[in-house]
Amino acid sequence: MKTIGVLTSGGDSPGMNAAIRAAVRGAIFHGMKIYGIERGFAGLIEGEIKEMNVSSVSDILHRGGTMLRTARSERFLTDEGFKRALNMLESFSIEGVIIIGGDGSMKGGLKISEAGFMVMGIPGTIDNDLAYTDFSIGFDTAVNTVLSSISNIRDTSSSHERSTVIEVMGRHCGDIALYAGVTGGAETILIPEVPVDINAVCRKIIQGRNRGKLHNIIIKAEGVDIRSEDLADVIKERTGVDTKIVVLSYVQRGGSPTARDRLLASRTAYKAVELLRDDSSSKAIGINGNEIVAYDLADALKMTRTHDQGYIELADVLSI
Ligand code: F6P
Repeated sequence: MKTIGVLTSGGDSPGMNAAIRAAVRGAIFHGMKIYGIERGFAGLIEGEIKEMNVSSVSDILHRGGTMLRTARSERFLTDEGFKRALNMLESFSIEGVIIIGGDGSMKGGLKISEAGFMVMGIPGTIDNDLAYTDFSIGFDTAVNTVLSSISNIRDTSSSHERSTVIEVMGRHCGDIALYAGVTGGAETILIPEVPVDINAVCRKIIQGRNRGKLHNIIIKAEGVDIRSEDLADVIKERTGVDTKIVVLSYVQRGGSPTARDRLLASRTAYKAVELLRDDSSSKAIGINGNEIVAYDLADALKMTRTHDQGYIELADVLSI
């Protein structure tokens, strides 16, 4: 394969730039021409495509966000938009595309691959909701950002003897809440995969008070089916403990990527280049243990994930 493209799509995640850098420099090292496609599928449809060189990706390794920018494209889902996207690939003679993004982006990639192009999916999402890989790029950074917020909130929460509901991202997947909850010493972790037991939440607060605890931290993923405001109201009413809400929102999606995310990004994107160079079929690339793995793209997207209930239990035991 001689000419390839790279794009980032969906919600950005720290480490996407490291993946772009690895794709560009890897491709050039292997004698391939590489185009950067801006604004994901939206930019592909509009032909926002430029050739990249070694210097195009200078000084981006440590930056969050994505230098190619990103978008969620409704038009790509229409026949007209999809055909235009394919035409653009043809007119730039792009034979293979590296798509860095989450579940929706990978599904878009699958459609492109079914139309005859080679596609390599790289997991780029803070949510860590892709079943086929242990971790996705940006997840580790997001967890560390949440962790640093928990530490700050804990200081003020203890001083005022408050309970705090900290809402983190994760519409369908509670991994950010699970990892940040255990490592941040949360009393309770609430995730979309598990129904909320408000009695248990309140019991934990009262138990803590009885043994002289000054604070109580509840980490709640955004996809949990009770609004944070409503949860705080119920806690106040049932326990009498002053309860505040902190919604971390986009704070946790930005920032300089951790070493772990840069490494994952560099390894997966370079692997994508190698597979394209070897004219492999379309793949989803991820990590299993410490090994970089590549699954058939369609098969990877059919896999289902389960949360680790042990994290919830561990947080519960360690915060008695
Ligand atoms: O998929 C990543 C994610 O950050 C989710 O956790 C969050 O719900 C969503 O993106 C927010 O998307 P947007 O940038 O469109 O508001």
